[in-house]
Amino acid sequence: MKRSVSSSGSRFPKSIFWIVLAVLLVTSGISVGIIVGMQEAEWAPIIQTHIMVFYWILASFILTLLIRARMKVTYDQPLQKISDATKRVASGDFSVRIDPIHEEGSQDYLDVMIHDLNAMIAELGSIETLKTDFVSNVSHEIKTPISVIQNYAQLLQSPDLTEQERNDYSRAISDAAMRLSSLITNILRLNRLENQKLAPSAVEFDLSSQLTECLLGYESIWEEKNIELNPEIEDDVRIRSDPELLTIVWNNLLSNAFKFTEEGGTVSISLKEDGDTAVIKIRDSGCGMSTETVKHIFDKFYQGDTSRATQGNGLGLALVKRIIDIVGGTVQVESTPGEGSEFTVRLNVNN
Ligand SMILES: Nc1ncnc2c1ncn2[C@@H]1O[C@H](COP(=O)(O)OP(=O)(O)OP(=O)(O)O)[C@@H](O)[C@H]1O
Ligand SMILES: [Mg+2]
Repeated sequence: MKRSVSSSGSRFPKSIFWIVLAVLLVTSGISVGIIVGMQEAEWAPIIQTHIMVFYWILASFILTLLIRARMKVTYDQPLQKISDATKRVASGDFSVRIDPIHEEGSQDYLDVMIHDLNAMIAELGSIETLKTDFVSNVSHEIKTPISVIQNYAQLLQSPDLTEQERNDYSRAISDAAMRLSSLITNILRLNRLENQKLAPSAVEFDLSSQLTECLLGYESIWEEKNIELNPEIEDDVRIRSDPELLTIVWNNLLSNAFKFTEEGGTVSISLKEDGDTAVIKIRDSGCGMSTETVKHIFDKFYQGDTSRATQGNGLGLALVKRIIDIVGGTVQVESTPGEGSEFTVRLNVNN
């Protein structure tokens, strides 16, 4: 929220003006009285001079003390509060908030500074929480496959294992290693994409072929799960974009569609050119998602159904969203629990 500081928002205390005026008037009046009195009493000029010098030194001293007291209230105390708060923030306490000095409506620039400082501390706190959450999520995701590897490696050491057991254990180790490797690849990708400020280098390529190729990569899965496939990919849809990044998008959306669809289900993929826009839809007849899950699917490490949490790390759709933002498209989801989900990506063909 932007705040404006009115001209009456000056910090100069009006009381100082009145204190100085009153003290000067009173002391001048008194000094005139003293001078007249001393002349009437016919005191020696040297004594009169000394008394006046002493009088003005005393008057200046009192005036300075009064101004100092006002300045302390106006500047020192609030700045001391700000300084204490920033010290606490520097030592890692992001819960501090500084109270404004004046009520809303009669605030000056120091109140605005306090308000902005509070907003800054809150923002720093949320970044810190995000960082801590990220580190604990990564550690958790790394720990799980490592303990799987550790357990199966121990089991493999047993001398009397059947051939079947030996195969099962080594497959479990290899799956866990693959999971670790895909986790690290996704984290590195996401990190690189989050730091990428510039638009990716766009080249013209055939989106129809790219989608078909990605789809073919899942042949073994749709055969194994007996999934019916409905491809409706228009031929020769050419697009100017980053092919490498878009491959990541299709692979993540397709891998989810095949992963969350039961045996005997259906997966449809369509590509249509609608004016300047390429519309890609990936639909499945899988488990679908609740409205609550849909709200979070693009968050890092979010996995809706915990029973499936062993598959993947919840980074796929975070990557998809980031890439679609970078290439300047949109991604939308429609899903009904128990019926399936549909992801729609729209991309401008001449980026
Ligand atoms: N097609 C889908 N059908 C049902 N649920 C889905 C679908 N796509 C995504 N989800 C839900 O969204 C969550 C996040 O998806 P995302 O792709 O980010 O992670 P993941 O697939 O669990 O793991 P990863 O992609 O890292 O392997 C999933 O765990 C799942 O709950
Ligand atoms: Mg996924």
